[in-house]
Amino acid sequence: MKLCMIGTGYVGLVSGVCFSDLGNDVICVDKDINKINNLKKGIIPIYEPGLEELVLKNFKNKRLNFSTNLKDSVRKSDIIFICVGTPTKKNSNSADLSQLYAAGNEISKSINKFKIIINKSTVPVTTGDELEKVISKKVNKKYFSVVSNPEFLREGEAIRDFIYPDRIVVGSNESKSHRIIKNLYSPLISKGAKFISTQRRAAELIKYASNAFLATKISFINEIANLCEKTEIDVEDISIGIGLDKRIGSRFLRAGPSYGGSCFPKDTKALVSTAQKFKTNLSIIKSVIKSNNKRSDLLSKRVNFILKNKIKNKIVSFLGVTFKANTDDMRDSSSLKLIPFLSKKGAIIKYYDPTGSKKEFKKLKNVKFSNSIQESIKGSDIVIIHTEWNDFKSINFKKFSKNKKLIIYDMRNIYSPGKIKKLGFKYFGIGR
Ligand SMILES: NC(=O)c1ccc[n+]([C@@H]2O[C@H](COP(=O)([O-])OP(=O)(O)OC[C@H]3O[C@@H](n4cnc5c(N)ncnc54)[C@H](O)[C@@H]3O)[C@@H](O)[C@H]2O)c1
Repeated sequence: MKLCMIGTGYVGLVSGVCFSDLGNDVICVDKDINKINNLKKGIIPIYEPGLEELVLKNFKNKRLNFSTNLKDSVRKSDIIFICVGTPTKKNSNSADLSQLYAAGNEISKSINKFKIIINKSTVPVTTGDELEKVISKKVNKKYFSVVSNPEFLREGEAIRDFIYPDRIVVGSNESKSHRIIKNLYSPLISKGAKFISTQRRAAELIKYASNAFLATKISFINEIANLCEKTEIDVEDISIGIGLDKRIGSRFLRAGPSYGGSCFPKDTKALVSTAQKFKTNLSIIKSVIKSNNKRSDLLSKRVNFILKNKIKNKIVSFLGVTFKANTDDMRDSSSLKLIPFLSKKGAIIKYYDPTGSKKEFKKLKNVKFSNSIQESIKGSDIVIIHTEWNDFKSINFKKFSKNKKLIIYDMRNIYSPGKIKKLGFKYFGIGR
């Protein structure tokens, strides 16, 4: 099939590349000229394991192309995916849908035959209805169908998640579209992916409800971890103990910093805002947002407690600054609160991240990027492990640090407290 992805970010690029790998002709469109020029040269704009190889392979065999010309790309395609950003609006909690409607408006100028327009961006329920109205202003309804096909991939695991999804959700009010899209996804369905056909509005809500539920699980175990810290219990035991109950499940039950990234913070807020529009009170999700917002302050206070209120001039090795491992995404990472807090309190921060230095910290006082884990740890008073990269899982602290009083604050509970204590270092984890 001939596909066009509008928006070549995490979702558009990964799904576009994977669809081309499955044998479709795909044009990935973006309004960012630099991004498209770089992609044509084989320069990948994001860190995502396995993505580069797949882009190069499919670009070379000409099934994958890149363009800034939306109109031309839409005309050449049968199915158009919208994968643009839907960030939180400024001064409001609701989703900013301006990029989505702008894309819809541009598509409407280029429809030359029947097209299926699939929205993959995460949007509030009823957005598909509005998108249909935008396109209907220029095009007769019989020439297009608006479908919702939310994306569930995780950054860092995006390709695997796309090829082996737990489920594929397609929301359309027309059976013809369901049939065509099921056919498009048939190579994944034959490998075991469940295909779920719903009404368009239901598909939109499934995505928000999924993210809100996962955010709830994280906040839940984070709060239980707070109690564990006061009662000398290891939260890891609690996670295993409750996670083995099949009704609960063990995933997303790992205590740690506040949840961040490009999805959970904005989607939980947008869901509450959408519910308000429909005069519904989502009190559980409201408290999850509140709990998560408080978490970075709580962890900042904990660092203060660990350093006995003497943060000034302490040398802090901060390992991993993105919102989680295996991504270069800084959006809503808790490091964006923790590092400025430490800098303001007078600490000297040497941070290291496998995906390189970050512009977000350039202007902060005494915050410098280290080129390696060893360089970051050398001479430090405390090591804060903020994300769970494999690179951080077997650090030789004894070799990297001559400081006998080194403190390790393991925010991902990677290390065994007993083993670290045996090395002679002080250990603090989350909820243990
Ligand atoms: N990042 C994730 O892990 C993830 C997972 C599932 C769903 N989502 C959702 O998918 C959507 C996209 O997220 P993302 O992280 O890929 O966003 P992103 O910001 O990485 O990429 C969006 C891209 O769209 C481009 N764009 C915007 N308007 C355009 C237009 N009119 N024409 C051409 N290009 C245009 C932008 O230049 C940008 O490159 C969001 O709604 C997000 O919530 C994201």
